[in-house]
Amino acid sequence: MNQDTLNLTHNSNDDINAMSQAVAQSDIIALLEQTFVEHFGYAATQISHAPGRVNLIGDHTDYNGGFVLPAAINFGTWMAGKARNDRTINVVALDCDGERISFSLDDIAFDKVSSWSNYVRGSLIALAKALPDFGGADLVVKGNVPRGAGLSSSASFEVVTLKTMAALYDLPLSGVQAALMGQQAENEFVGCNCGIMDQMISAMGKQHNAMLLDCRSLDIQYARMPEDLAIIIVNSNVKRGLVDSEYNTRRKQCEQAAALLGKTSLRDVTLAELNAAKADLEPILYRRAHHVISESLRTCDMLAALNRHDMAQISTLMAESHDSLKNDFEVTTSQLDILVSLLADKLGEYGGARMTGGGFGGCVVALTERSHVDNVLATLAEDYHAATGLKADVYLCHAVDGAFVAV
Ligand code: GLA
Repeated sequence: MNQDTLNLTHNSNDDINAMSQAVAQSDIIALLEQTFVEHFGYAATQISHAPGRVNLIGDHTDYNGGFVLPAAINFGTWMAGKARNDRTINVVALDCDGERISFSLDDIAFDKVSSWSNYVRGSLIALAKALPDFGGADLVVKGNVPRGAGLSSSASFEVVTLKTMAALYDLPLSGVQAALMGQQAENEFVGCNCGIMDQMISAMGKQHNAMLLDCRSLDIQYARMPEDLAIIIVNSNVKRGLVDSEYNTRRKQCEQAAALLGKTSLRDVTLAELNAAKADLEPILYRRAHHVISESLRTCDMLAALNRHDMAQISTLMAESHDSLKNDFEVTTSQLDILVSLLADKLGEYGGARMTGGGFGGCVVALTERSHVDNVLATLAEDYHAATGLKADVYLCHAVDGAFVAV
């Protein structure tokens, strides 16, 4: 089990969690340094980090040019590296049984066997298109983002790869550029048609802040998280199925709805315009568009609610968001719905809960004041297990800096 996972039968305590996280980070760095020397016979000159993320609200809006409000979290990916004098890239992945792969920068091909390496390969192809002035590198990578949980382990892998290469070769790579390159790697090389949210927050997140991102202009507005607000992430441990195909279907449906409404993107459609055209749209397309347009509005309202520290409004917005993802967008599962309703019952007006990320399994996120955390979590694991037969993992998180934010 991940050592940062809280056992729900024990008292949850943020200080303990923060301490174990700090230990975990130094352990990871020590392991990277040691492995690097073992594999390459010399020391790494660079260790970089890129965080995973949790999205507080605004899901399935990014690829519609809408708004999202994620935070970078204290789980991420670390990479040790040293530049080489040739064009070879060697990568050792500690989370994949220490597997080592090698390829030449002059011949980057898709790897069907060691599929994890495609994040590195795809990122380097994107980097070479814009900033080709780099050579080979020896790299060792390790992360602690729970994989397949919808907390952006792959975006953090892409961003840390780009950050490491930029540091090794002194490349003038900005965070926004790195995010776009990571997305390009996913879209054009790995084959996942994701939006820009995950890579942007991994690159540009800010400590103690959530980040309102306009996914069309890429304008960023940071929102300070109130000091006493806890970010609770609960992993439903539902094995995510059909994620890519369903995700791509949703994308197509959104594009289809926008086209039928005479727009290039749902960003340009108001709720009034959508409702006026309701009779002309297939019900499923209406519901998809209704989710996207209403979710973007909720995301902007959430920023204001966070700034006002208005817990009742935060609670309402998160509940509406989950309902919309459940009924209009149909990306939740029964287990996610159960977790959210268990959390919402315990939180009342003192906090909110919703699924987070792409859906079809993965995690839910809850926001509440720290004083409520122990109470909220007290019987959650038992209740969830009784209802679903599954075990929940809980992560108490805080917002950290992204890979490219100057510290
Ligand atoms: C995944 C994608 C993101 C975003 C979310 C849903 O995490 O990678 O781009 O679309 O789903 O909000």
